[in-house]
Amino acid sequence: MHGALRHKGRRKDRLALTAAFKCIFLLCLASLRAGRRREGLKQREAAALAFSIQITDLTKQYRKGPPALNKVNLNIQSGMFGLLGPNGAGKTTLMRILATLLQPLSGEVYVGGVNLADNPGAVRAILGYLPQDFNTYRRLTVRQVLDYVALLKGLDAAAARRQKVELVLAQVHLKEKRHTQVAHLSGGMRQRLGIGQALLGDPQLLIVDEPTAGLDPEERIRFRNLLVEISKGKVVLLSTHIVGDVESCCSRLAVLNQGNVCFTGSPAELAAKARGQVWEIAAAEEQHTTLPASARVIATRRIGDTVHRRILSPMRPLPAALPVEPTLEEGYLQVVKAGATP
Ligand SMILES: Nc1ncnc2c1ncn2[C@@H]1O[C@H](COP(=O)(O)OP(=O)(O)OP(=O)(O)O)[C@@H](O)[C@H]1O
Ligand SMILES: [Mg+2]
Repeated sequence: MHGALRHKGRRKDRLALTAAFKCIFLLCLASLRAGRRREGLKQREAAALAFSIQITDLTKQYRKGPPALNKVNLNIQSGMFGLLGPNGAGKTTLMRILATLLQPLSGEVYVGGVNLADNPGAVRAILGYLPQDFNTYRRLTVRQVLDYVALLKGLDAAAARRQKVELVLAQVHLKEKRHTQVAHLSGGMRQRLGIGQALLGDPQLLIVDEPTAGLDPEERIRFRNLLVEISKGKVVLLSTHIVGDVESCCSRLAVLNQGNVCFTGSPAELAAKARGQVWEIAAAEEQHTTLPASARVIATRRIGDTVHRRILSPMRPLPAALPVEPTLEEGYLQVVKAGATP
């Protein structure tokens, strides 16, 4: 009787021990898998951080006129990169080439290590693009447009697609307009829809061609913040005429003029390009001042009877002129003026 009980007790102990070993083994396995997952995540994050665009000697010639891009060299790292330049500088041409919509005459583009000419499909798979003249699907509703674009981008599962569309609707503040036809949206709202469709599919490369044109100031600020938020580990290429857009959200930028890159660097470095060339003069309204031909008035403010002028000039334009710290806009004007062919 006693022997049988002892035997039963030993069996119980053995079972408990086996269960404990099993438990430890499973825990070790889980921790090993978690370690591998963490490692994989780290590698993916590193790959995302390393994601960049290399542009070498890129030239584009349309049928008529001078080259729209003339041996452009740029190295664009992940984060927000601004593209500034006057009308006709070549910004849209460059963006359309990167978006695989246009063929260059010569030169090379590598996107995240992939040669654009050899493998445009691979670049398209990671691309979100908002064209300068986004205006499409006028008879569809906002939600239908996003749903359709999500389908085109390969979001096949209906539930996941619905979820993603709802997220994008919230991101671009168009939730209340989800059932409105595109034709009935204001210009700014249509622009927001354009941004929304570019965000679908979580693109690693987001190209937005003058996205803030037509947005009201509040919406512009919200949009800039959104771009900065999503730019982590991605390349966001933003072209604009609004210098303030670049100042507030791009750590690096390039200035294009007549198809040539005439500046690359940080906003502070661009502003510094006009150091020693910006002057302020305060004079009574009736006092007439003749400026040298090389001087250019860039801002005029009237305070009471006094007129304050900011002047861009390589030398002191008048004895009363005082040197002032340049703004980013003044740096930009200086660089464009210096790079322009007469
Ligand atoms: N399809 C085209 N056919 C012929 N020339 C073109 C074409 N598209 C652009 N160009 C020319 O190429 C040059 C660069 O134009 P692009 O649209 O790239 O400039 P941009 O910097 O985007 O100007 P904007 O600020 O006005 O949008 C311009 O001289 C323009 O006239
Ligand atoms: Mg353009």
